[in-house]
Amino acid sequence: MGVSDRIEAAISAAIRAGQAGISPGRLAAALGYSVTPGGARIRPTILMSVAKACGDDRPALTDAAAAALELIHSASLVHDDLPMFDDADLRRGKPSVHRAFSQPIAVLAGDSLIVMAFEVLARAGAQDPMRALNLISVLGKRTGMPFGICAGQGWESEDKIDLSAYHQAKTGALFIAATQMGAIAAGQEADPWEELGARIGEAFQVADDLRDALCDETTLGKPAGQDDLHGRPNAVRLLGVRGAVQRLDDILAGAISSIPKCPGEGQLAQVVRAYADKLVPATARDRLMVPGE
Ligand code: IPE
Ligand code: MG
Ligand code: MG
Repeated sequence: MGVSDRIEAAISAAIRAGQAGISPGRLAAALGYSVTPGGARIRPTILMSVAKACGDDRPALTDAAAAALELIHSASLVHDDLPMFDDADLRRGKPSVHRAFSQPIAVLAGDSLIVMAFEVLARAGAQDPMRALNLISVLGKRTGMPFGICAGQGWESEDKIDLSAYHQAKTGALFIAATQMGAIAAGQEADPWEELGARIGEAFQVADDLRDALCDETTLGKPAGQDDLHGRPNAVRLLGVRGAVQRLDDILAGAISSIPKCPGEGQLAQVVRAYADKLVPATARDRLMVPGE
């Protein structure tokens, strides 16, 4: 099975387990609605690519880790779209969960997905309890406070934002989780993989700023122009389109050279390069052809 099929199968299995038995129907439906169809599935793809580069000797644990990470990411989007956060009506090209169901259901769906992520890891842990414990620990650290996406969202309630801490927690955290969990699932140390995750996360943030500034709602499948609307500092405002694309290229070059020694090092570099090509929206490259941009 290819990476993408493995990811979808693992996520579906987790959601089915959450819908089993006599359960409240609307909440059960909202779980599936929150994760399918997916977005780019970039975090679990990176996780699995790292695991494969490290030998992937326990594929069931890798599958569980990939599903757990995407469940956390999806939960963060469900909560992020709520009226008390970004108040967004559209996500992944369809009505956000609170619009399709209700606010209470969206809060509960997000909560359930977060808990489900840790349950998935605990269930898969029988195979190798030590690796599972490390996976749970890394995922917890990068989800909560002070190093996780909760911290990232928390910065938006502060009068003064530490931009680098904000971006590292909001966006970088789950990319660090991706590279480290991939390594752990395949029996490797997590520490050497932090830098690669952080750099990919930084590149993702710049690309996200470019997409937010240059693409429309239909292309994005979610509201566009949000950074300027909410007065958020962003790479396009700071560096211009050309500067932001240059910055993205620099970060990715650094990311590739930070890949730790492992059997699949060369192939992993190719995956990062292919991902980099997809990151920059075509409209940004087009804009660079216009003199003065
Ligand atoms: C969106 O992430 C949230 C951010 C951290 C900016 P993605 O762009 O990866 O969203 P999906 O999963 O592809 O929809
Ligand atoms: Mg937000
Ligand atoms: Mg948002």
